[in-house]
Amino acid sequence: MIIVLLGAPGAGKGTQSEILQERLHMLHVSSGDLLRDNLKRGTELGKVAEGYMGKGEFVPDNLVIEMILQRMAAPDVERGILLDGFPRNLAQAVALDDALDVKGKRVNAASYIHVEFDALIDRLSGRLTCRNCGHVFHEKFAPPKVPGVCDVCGGELYQRDDDKRETAVKRLGIYFEQTQPIIEYYRERGILCQVNGEQPITQVTEDLLNCLR
Ligand code: AP5
Repeated sequence: MIIVLLGAPGAGKGTQSEILQERLHMLHVSSGDLLRDNLKRGTELGKVAEGYMGKGEFVPDNLVIEMILQRMAAPDVERGILLDGFPRNLAQAVALDDALDVKGKRVNAASYIHVEFDALIDRLSGRLTCRNCGHVFHEKFAPPKVPGVCDVCGGELYQRDDDKRETAVKRLGIYFEQTQPIIEYYRERGILCQVNGEQPITQVTEDLLNCLR
């Protein structure tokens, strides 16, 4: 199975992917996490990506496509992949389909988590991310047990630079312009399912699972 998770920045793709990968025994592949890992390790890709990510802009397609296709070529993807944050525009969606076509595979489902603009801003501006394991919390909606400390690994929680209000607004603008059209791309192929992301996290998971079934 190859499942694409769609939704605006802050819709809950990362939160749901973490839960779904356990429930569905699939691998969570997040383009944002892979890029942040490259930044942390100081790779050539990380150095180029940093400038774009800091400004809330897309990293160039050729770099992201290569990074994702390389990750998808590893043996551990055989149990199925949950793609989070990729594809993010039509060029990336077409590149993914072409690469899968060569292997006789295809995207089986695209799950779209819908959340309105104001709620997205609230979520991004209150998000806390673990510096060590990447688990996400929210200061109001999903607070850690101990302030500033990750429940999962004890790591330090921080606010992502691109979650500052001005950058978050810019990211949402780019999302509506460039990523929204791929929702129609998958809808036209009959593989889109849409869930209401403005519900408790557990309910969003159940709706996603029902939709995928
Ligand atoms: P990326 O890391 O992919 O960020 P994003 O798509 O903007 O998504 P987010 O991680 O912001 O949100 P999410 O939907 O995962 O929400 P979350 O679960 O954390 O990308 C970062 C950057 O990398 C991009 O800007 C770009 O520069 C670059 N990049 C990445 N992919 C690229 C690509 N394909 N092409 C080019 N460039 C690329 O939830 C958000 C908050 O809400 C959390 O605090 C959470 O606790 C809370 N929350 C979640 N669900 C609920 C709920 N149901 N109710 C209440 N609160 C909730």
